[in-house]
Amino acid sequence: MNYNFSDRISGVPRSFIREILKVAADPSFISFAGGLPNKDFFPLKEIEEAAAKVLKNDGKTALQYSITEGYLPLRKYIANRYKIKKGISVSPEHILITSGSQQGLDLMGKIFINEGDNVLLEEPGYLGAIQAFSIFKAKFIAVPLVEEGMDIELMRNALLKARFKLFYAVPNFQNPSGISYSEENRHEVARLISNAGTVMIEDDPYGELRFLGTEKTSFKKMLPNQVIMLGTFSKIVAPAFRIGWIVAPDEVFEKLVIAKQAADLHTNYIGQRIIYQYLIDNDIDAHISKITEAYGKQRETMVKAIGTYFPDDINITLPEGGMFLWMTLPQGVSSITLFNKCIEKKVAFVPGSPFYTNKGDVNTLRLNFSCSDEKTIEEGIKRIAEALKSK
Ligand SMILES: Cc1ncc(COP(=O)(O)O)c(C=O)c1O
Repeated sequence: MNYNFSDRISGVPRSFIREILKVAADPSFISFAGGLPNKDFFPLKEIEEAAAKVLKNDGKTALQYSITEGYLPLRKYIANRYKIKKGISVSPEHILITSGSQQGLDLMGKIFINEGDNVLLEEPGYLGAIQAFSIFKAKFIAVPLVEEGMDIELMRNALLKARFKLFYAVPNFQNPSGISYSEENRHEVARLISNAGTVMIEDDPYGELRFLGTEKTSFKKMLPNQVIMLGTFSKIVAPAFRIGWIVAPDEVFEKLVIAKQAADLHTNYIGQRIIYQYLIDNDIDAHISKITEAYGKQRETMVKAIGTYFPDDINITLPEGGMFLWMTLPQGVSSITLFNKCIEKKVAFVPGSPFYTNKGDVNTLRLNFSCSDEKTIEEGIKRIAEALKSK
């Protein structure tokens, strides 16, 4: 059969990371390639109890179709948490529950991007956003990340040269780099996008996973009408629920609701009910503290092991939270070549190239530290360092 696929899908590659995950499925493999939260922290018993309670007390309603915007008590809970945790005042009326924050990216692409529209990204950038916006034939311009956030000079130049429909950023513990924007960098970036009138997507799946440093000002707080914020329960409760949200002002919210209705009517309603029940019956802050304490130790172990086994001419980021760190190999050393050698040694990471929009072979790579215990981290890092030293 000669399938005549749309132009929209034809140029978009499969996620490289999902492909690597298949290779690393062998249990003797050490994988720093995934982007998964640690399953040991899934609150299994509590979710079982929450599910039983919802089904027993209100099962027939909970299994019915529901409204596109999402379960109102859950939206109120999220609004209240923004107020308490970040000092941001958002109305539950401006929160749309989505099928993971990934759907938020798809919906934003649908309502904003025409073919050829400019989208400003961080470099390296989140692969899922590159993939979501590629479907709408966006033209990407990526500005490098530096230690303290966006490279301000290069961002200013990019904004002077072109008009952008969207600026997409992950200011807290970015995927893939682990970088967080400093307070000063945030204010400078906010000033630039405010002057340019560009809509910003502030994606914050990792913000609550801080193990070092202090909370920084959200872009949503600085520019409430210009910033669309994405959030998710994937990293603090469990990703299988596929429950995230978008915070957007009235006009944008209305368009998002139309796009969401067309996509899937509403997010899994029973899942929303169970997660809400779980949240009100349990101490989520205590749960998050357990996760961050463990991730902090894992990150420490990885940084130490890199210091022990790697030569001095590599560079790494030192994340204050989240699940990833980013390594830069010496100039001219290919991370794809290193990856292939590492596969033989049964250890995996993600080579940097898929996180760039226009670069092939690069000397950077992403390491995930949230899913391996400390002994495994040490062993895996040792194997990568040996592979790097081998000719
Ligand atoms: C930066 C970023 N945004 C969005 C997502 C999607 O998360 P979810 O759809 O599970 O909410 C991820 C997942 O890894 C991510 O790293």
